[in-house]
Amino acid sequence: MAASFLIYGANGYVGEAAARLAVAQGLKPILAGRDAAKIGPLAAGLGLEARAFSLADAADADRALRDVQLVLHLAGPYKYTSKPMVDACLRAGAHYLDITGEIPVFEALAARDVEAKARKVMLLPAVGFDVVPTDCLALHLKQRLPSATHLTLAFHSVGRAGLPPGTQRTMIELIPFGERVRRDGRLVVPERGEQARRVDFGQGPVQAVRLTWGDVFTAFHTTGISNIEVYVVLPAAVRRQRLLLEKLRPLFSLAPMRKLLMRGVRPGPSAEARAKTMTHVWGEVADASGRKAAARLHGPEAGLVWTTRAALAVVRKALAGKFSPGFQTPARVYGADLVLECEGVTREDLA
Ligand SMILES: NC(=O)c1ccc[n+]([C@@H]2O[C@H](COP(=O)([O-])OP(=O)(O)OC[C@H]3O[C@@H](n4cnc5c(N)ncnc54)[C@H](OP(=O)(O)O)[C@@H]3O)[C@@H](O)[C@H]2O)c1
Repeated sequence: MAASFLIYGANGYVGEAAARLAVAQGLKPILAGRDAAKIGPLAAGLGLEARAFSLADAADADRALRDVQLVLHLAGPYKYTSKPMVDACLRAGAHYLDITGEIPVFEALAARDVEAKARKVMLLPAVGFDVVPTDCLALHLKQRLPSATHLTLAFHSVGRAGLPPGTQRTMIELIPFGERVRRDGRLVVPERGEQARRVDFGQGPVQAVRLTWGDVFTAFHTTGISNIEVYVVLPAAVRRQRLLLEKLRPLFSLAPMRKLLMRGVRPGPSAEARAKTMTHVWGEVADASGRKAAARLHGPEAGLVWTTRAALAVVRKALAGKFSPGFQTPARVYGADLVLECEGVTREDLA
């Protein structure tokens, strides 16, 4: 089979940037999406092949993936798009990569591990900022303290770049799912209310609040550590909104209410805002006897720049034949140093 890879959702905010970066790196992805009028001109402009197909049409999807070795699936929210694409990849024998951070999607993918292994297909979600940097940091820390039982991760975006439009939509779709942490190996709903702690990302301690992030699912698979929490630094106004949303959660289990919130989705940040934004990641592990290890990563803007660099680092490795069939996590397949292959990323070990 030809070593070809296909980007689905290539006309999206992340999809187009990934297509452009792939070309800049000498790759020739097939650009795909559900709308020929959007995909065609983009592909023509980059000198690439275009394939338009709907995920709702299995026969169309089969035709589109007939000679494809790997799909980088960039169309979300994945709650709606992951299953039909995974089905198509399993039928075609193509590896499936996405950039989801949605825990219900991870659960659905993990449940297909045996099926994927039987077809020698890798199901590797979360190859974007969520979770490549944190997954790699978690494994790095586990390697420094193999007896670790607790993992705490945190990140801080410094600059004007806000969230990608797809991330805003996904966050709205995830409101009914609510919060999760990992305790004693199980995903549990934590106590209500805001949980805060101080984290030093390198410029002195700042207040960070707990959020539900992909690592509470994935880092367990990567490291075996059975207690995992993730924190983020948020502006005070956003923290107030989150507390309000928590109270109104039952209301937003109704799809029409979420649709109302979708009206507030903003376009992705400009190239200028992205260039002036940096992301800092911190992680700490602890074991039962109180020993600790901590480390930090520093890198570019998270939502698009770090995400596309991480996703394409994984694509290049998989196309070169390095893959593990079944449900996988990024650092489990590619190691703790995968993140250092993303341009502009540095790591520092703390005591
Ligand atoms: N891991 C990370 O760190 C990270 C970072 C950024 C984004 N993300 C995730 O990546 C996804 C894309 O984000 P984005 O900002 O690029 O979003 P976007 O600009 O809204 O683009 C979404 C893309 O998905 C396509 N799409 C949506 N629903 C579809 C469906 N049912 N069938 C086929 N195609 C569909 C859209 O096609 P049309 O144009 O035809 O509607 C478009 O191509 C989101 O799920 C987001 O949460 C993850």
